[in-house]
Amino acid sequence: MNTQKFVYLALFVFFAFMATMSCNHDDDNTNITPEDTLAAHLTYLPESDQRNGDPAAGRDYLIYGNYVASGIPYNVIGGLLPGDGNALGRTGDNANLPAGFSAVNALNGVRVVSPNCLQCHGGYINGQFVEGLGNSSSDYTGNQSGLITIADLLITNAYGQNSPEWQAYLPFRTSTLKLSQILHAEVRGINLANNVFAILAAHRNPVNFVWSDAPVMPEISQMAPVDVPAWWHIQKKHALYYNGLGEGDFARLIMASNLLTVSDTSEARVVDNHFPDVYAYLKTLQPPPYPETIDQTLAEQGRQVFNTHCARCHGTYGQNESYPNLLVDLETIQTDPLLAEGYYGDAAGYVNWHAQSWFAQEPHSAALVPKRGYMAPPLDGIWATAPYFHNGSVPTVADVLNSTGRPTYWKRTFDSNDYNYQKLGWNYTVETQGGSTQVYNTTLEGHRNTGHTFGDKLTDTDRTALLEYLKTL
Ligand code: HEC
Ligand code: HEC
Repeated sequence: MNTQKFVYLALFVFFAFMATMSCNHDDDNTNITPEDTLAAHLTYLPESDQRNGDPAAGRDYLIYGNYVASGIPYNVIGGLLPGDGNALGRTGDNANLPAGFSAVNALNGVRVVSPNCLQCHGGYINGQFVEGLGNSSSDYTGNQSGLITIADLLITNAYGQNSPEWQAYLPFRTSTLKLSQILHAEVRGINLANNVFAILAAHRNPVNFVWSDAPVMPEISQMAPVDVPAWWHIQKKHALYYNGLGEGDFARLIMASNLLTVSDTSEARVVDNHFPDVYAYLKTLQPPPYPETIDQTLAEQGRQVFNTHCARCHGTYGQNESYPNLLVDLETIQTDPLLAEGYYGDAAGYVNWHAQSWFAQEPHSAALVPKRGYMAPPLDGIWATAPYFHNGSVPTVADVLNSTGRPTYWKRTFDSNDYNYQKLGWNYTVETQGGSTQVYNTTLEGHRNTGHTFGDKLTDTDRTALLEYLKTL
C-alpha cells in the first residue's frame, strides 16, 4: 500500500468511527428521526417451516373434500339450497350446490351436504364470485338454530332417527346447536370465526378431539367481530391471522374447520394429510384486477407518496416487490384492540387448549401465539376487499386514508354492484344511530373505527394520487 492510499484509509476509518460515535450520542433523543421512533413499535415476524403440497390436488380437496364429514343428507337438502349458477364450476352432485357447501361422504358413507371454507372465504364483487375474497355479507345476527329445526323434521320424516342418515347428521347437529346458542353478531357483514373455533375447542378433549357436551373450559363470551381476510395475501405472510396469532405449520392451522364435526384425531390425521395441498393452492391465488381505467400518471405520483409514507409497513409492489411482515403494536396502530387483547383475557383458555392439543403435536406442530398488535397486511387487491380494518369498521379506502371522515354509523345495501370507484369501497349512507343489525355502529366495543391515522397528514392532492396508485395493486 502506498502512503497516499494509507492516508485515505486512515481518514476513512477515523470518519467512520466519528460517525458511530455521533450515532451513539443520539441516545439523548435530540436527533431521532420519526422512522427511528417508529422502529421500536414494529416487530418483525419470522418465517417458519412449511410442508410442500400440490396446488391442483389442494383445490380439488378444498371444493370436494370431506374435511367436514357430517351434515344434512344430500337427498333431503340438496334440492332446497338456492343455486349460484355453479360459481365454482364443480361437477357431479356438487354442481347443484352453492359455493359455500359441498356434497361429501360422511364416515359411514352417507352422502351429506356440509359447509366448506368458501362459506366465509368466497365473496362477490360486481356480481362476480371471487374465490378467496372474504365473504363480507354473511349474517350472524339471527339465531342459526332454525336450520336445525327444519333439518330435524326432514330427516326424521324421510328416514327416522334410527338410521345411518341420522347418524351422519348428528355431529353437525350437535355442534351447530351449540354454536347457535352462543354466537351473536351485532351487525350483518362481520364474521365471528375466532369465537366459533374457541367454542368448538371448549367442547372437545384437546388430546383426542372427542366431543363433550359439558365445556372442558369456560366458554368465550366476548365476541370479537372480524372481516374475513383475502386468501391471496398468505403467500407473503410469515404468520397467520390479523394479530399474527398463527405460527408453525400453516396447513395444520387452516384445517381448523374440521373441528366442527370431527369424530376423533384419527379422522383429523387423514384431513391433515391433505392440507399441505390446500395451503399450496391458496398460495397460488391472485387478486382480481381493478376493472375500471386507471390514470397512470396520477398513479405514478401516488406510488411515490406510498413509498414515502406507507411502504415501511405495507411493503412495495410491482417489480422487485417486498413485504416486511411487521406487527404494529396497539399503542401505535390504535385500531380497535378487542381482538388482539382478547387472547390475553377471555380467549386465553383457547390458547392454552391449543397448546395442549393434537394441533401442537410434532411433527408439523402449529401454535397460537398472542400478540398485542396487528400485522400491517399486504395491500394486493385492496380495491376489492372492503370493508377495511380487521373488524370491517371502515367502508372505503378513502375513509381509511382520512380518519376524520369516517362515519360513526353507516349502512350499505349488501348488493355487490353497489360499489364506489371514487372512494374504493362500498357505497354507504351515514346514519344517525345504531341499534339495527343493518347499521354498523362503531361506538360498540370491538367495532371501533379509530386509529391508523397515517393518511391524515397528507394533502388532498397526495391522497387522490395515493388512491389511484392503490387501484393498481
Ligand atoms: C366461519 C367462517 C370461516 C370458515 C368456515 C373458514 N374461515 Fe378461514 N378465516 C375466517 C376468518 C374470520 C379469518 C380471520 C381470523 C383472524 O385473522 O383473526 C380467517 C383466516 C384464515 C386464514 C389466514 C388469513 C391471513 O391473512 O392471515 C386462512 C389461510 C384461512 N382462514 C383458511 C381457511 C380454510 C382453508 C378454511 C376451510 C378449511 C377456512 N379458512 C374456513 C373465517 C373462516
Ligand atoms: C406503522 C405502520 C403502518 C403505516 C405507516 C401504514 N399502515 Fe396501513 N395498516 C397498518 C396496520 C397494522 C393495519 C391493520 C390495522 C387493523 O386491521 O386493525 C393497516 C391497514 C391498512 C389498510 C386496510 C387494510 C385492510 O385490508 O383492511 C389500508 C388500506 C392501509 N393500511 C393503507 C395504508 C396507506 C395507504 C398508508 C400510507 C398512507 C399506510 N397504510 C400506512 C400499518 C401501517
